[in-house]
Amino acid sequence: MEKSKEVLSNELKTFEIYFKEAVRSSSPLLDRIMQYIVKRKGKQLRPMFVLLSARLCGEVTDASYRAASLVEILHTATLVHDDVVDDSFQRRGFFSAYALWKAKAAVLIGDYLLAKGLLISLQYKDYEILHILSEAVKKMSEGELLQMEKSRSLNISENVYYEIIKNKTASLLASACAAGARSATQNPESVQILKQFGEHAGLAFQIKDDLFDYTSQKIGKPTGNDIKEKKITLPLIYTLQNVDYITRRKMIYILKNENRNPEKVSWVIKKVKEKGGITYAENKMLEFKNKALELLSRFKNDKVRQAMEELVSFVTDREY
Ligand code: IPE
Ligand code: IPE
Ligand code: MG
Ligand code: MG
Repeated sequence: MEKSKEVLSNELKTFEIYFKEAVRSSSPLLDRIMQYIVKRKGKQLRPMFVLLSARLCGEVTDASYRAASLVEILHTATLVHDDVVDDSFQRRGFFSAYALWKAKAAVLIGDYLLAKGLLISLQYKDYEILHILSEAVKKMSEGELLQMEKSRSLNISENVYYEIIKNKTASLLASACAAGARSATQNPESVQILKQFGEHAGLAFQIKDDLFDYTSQKIGKPTGNDIKEKKITLPLIYTLQNVDYITRRKMIYILKNENRNPEKVSWVIKKVKEKGGITYAENKMLEFKNKALELLSRFKNDKVRQAMEELVSFVTDREY
């Protein structure tokens, strides 16, 4: 990510100031919680997507920084809620808000962040950007709910999986790129291309995230949590469709009834690896990455585009 960070070095410093200001609270308790959350910042990929999209279309403006802050705030809010939904105690290498303050407070903290985000956009009358991002927030909830429904029935096709990840993850990246573009240009075509680009990068991003769950890498949050939560992701979907009937029944039985038994779960993971589920998902991820790069090729080949290309490669090659 070196090149992307170098190309954006000034912008990222300014972003940091906007972001900190945006999450400040006059209530001492909330301010303390916000400081905690801001201190454990993540990779901040979404603000980078916003700012590079703006640069691809023109000049970074104040509206670009507000869009980047809004995107990161919305993202953080959904992570706080997601850890409640997924019953997960670790986030960004430390305790999740859910682990520290329990579900009741984590729900309210997520809501507070969401409201803070809405208010920045309203204060500056960034209506169009707010519209673009509200769309994503709606889709994220739809995606998480569809995933929840499917984890009950354990019956999920590859297409439904794409539908889930398109909504829960790719929609925010698509909107991030569209909002960044819109903050720098009025040209609807550029906004549209970058939106599609963001969607493909986002699909690759979530497949990578789901692949991490099959490893024991240190990524700052739990691995092996998806099967425990009956979350059926691409490596497993592929495997279920490509094993013999008996193995399939056995795998489904474990997912349903023994999903908290580490030995049984290890057996499922072993089958996924043996049957090529990981390789299949990696190849799909690369297909989405390549589609994203193809869309970028419509922009002129300069250092900004190269930085964006490098950011997409980071999405699929990253170690955390
Ligand atoms: C995690 O996103 C949530 C998903 C959509 C998989 P990131 O991996 O970008 O999280 P942070 O912000 O770097 O912690
Ligand atoms: C992404 O899904 C969550 C959101 C889009 C909010 P995951 O549940 O896989 O994300 P992590 O792995 O907890 O970060
Ligand atoms: Mg989760
Ligand atoms: Mg995950």
